Amino acid sequence: MRILVTGGAGYIGSVVTDELILSGHTVTVFDNLEKGHRNAVADEAHFVEGALRDAPLLKQTFQKREIEAVIHLAAYSLVGESVLHPAKYYKNNVVAGCSMLDAMCETGVKKIIFSSTAAVYGDAPDRPIVETDPLSPSNPYGETKLAFENMLRWYDKAYGVKSASLRYFNAAGASAGRGERHSPETHLIPLVLQAATGTIEKVEIFGNDYPTRDGTCIRDYIHIVDLAKAHILALEQLGETSAIFNLGCGGGGYSVREVIDTASEVTGLPIPFEVVGRRSGDPAILIASSDLITKELGWRPEFQDLNEIIESAWNWLQSGVCPTRKL
Ligand code: UFG
Repeated sequence: MRILVTGGAGYIGSVVTDELILSGHTVTVFDNLEKGHRNAVADEAHFVEGALRDAPLLKQTFQKREIEAVIHLAAYSLVGESVLHPAKYYKNNVVAGCSMLDAMCETGVKKIIFSSTAAVYGDAPDRPIVETDPLSPSNPYGETKLAFENMLRWYDKAYGVKSASLRYFNAAGASAGRGERHSPETHLIPLVLQAATGTIEKVEIFGNDYPTRDGTCIRDYIHIVDLAKAHILALEQLGETSAIFNLGCGGGGYSVREVIDTASEVTGLPIPFEVVGRRSGDPAILIASSDLITKELGWRPEFQDLNEIIESAWNWLQSGVCPTRKL
């Protein structure tokens, strides 16, 4: 299939692009390089530098490259920033997203896989979350992702756009060639590894007074390659019915302390940390039930063990691709 990946120069998008190419698809990456890296895009992919709101450029790309489906990952995704600057999130994640959907409709592209988030659930129950659980985002980031999911529902009814929305839990780890290099970095695993190498002085643990086994927050870490493979399954099996799937590993999840201890074991290095106050908006436990995607698409994670996930991130960091490396 000829596929356009928005945000394909980012952490998740670059691995999705690789996996699509490995599966025999033809990929065009559309990215404005605000957060992404040009050198994270596979040589085999065609690259177009552009903004999501640039409908004429998108339409031209859809036509010229004879695009049949879109995998839409381009978005702002920092919870804290979204609370401070909701306008930025609505303009990019909703308004520009809508203009992209219109460009799709006008050029007859009627299939889309959307990168959604567990943040659509807000304060979720302390058990594996199912897709039918209440949706109540507690920040503009989650709210804008939910708005786009809802838009997709109505664009299906009115214009026949078929979609699969994938609600990611905590994407983590690295493939052989691609890993996480955000600036600024806010995610736990890369920060923990930066503390191991001395790039940062220490990791701050945001609260140890949660009602969990060791008092720190529990999350569902899903390996980036497993996450990417789910996109391909969702696309290849997208038929006449649009769908929404959670995407995590399930199980018991891992606490912040467990992540630090495991990273210390994997790297063989001490990881300095300090317990500080809670970060606002952090639920105690976020774990996915991925039963639906397993049942409907046959998706199963290959890397469920935190050791393997952290080891992949560590190997990538040591490979020297990451410009912030300091060993
Ligand atoms: N954490 C720390 N110290 C840090 C960074 C994180 O203790 O320096 C903790 C957080 O409080 C949280 C856990 O580590 O308990 C994971 O935090 P991340 O920032 O790595 O990830 P989040 O769970 O906050 O966010 C992820 C996605 C978001 C998505 C959210 C859904 O990155 O895009 O899950 O709730 F919105």
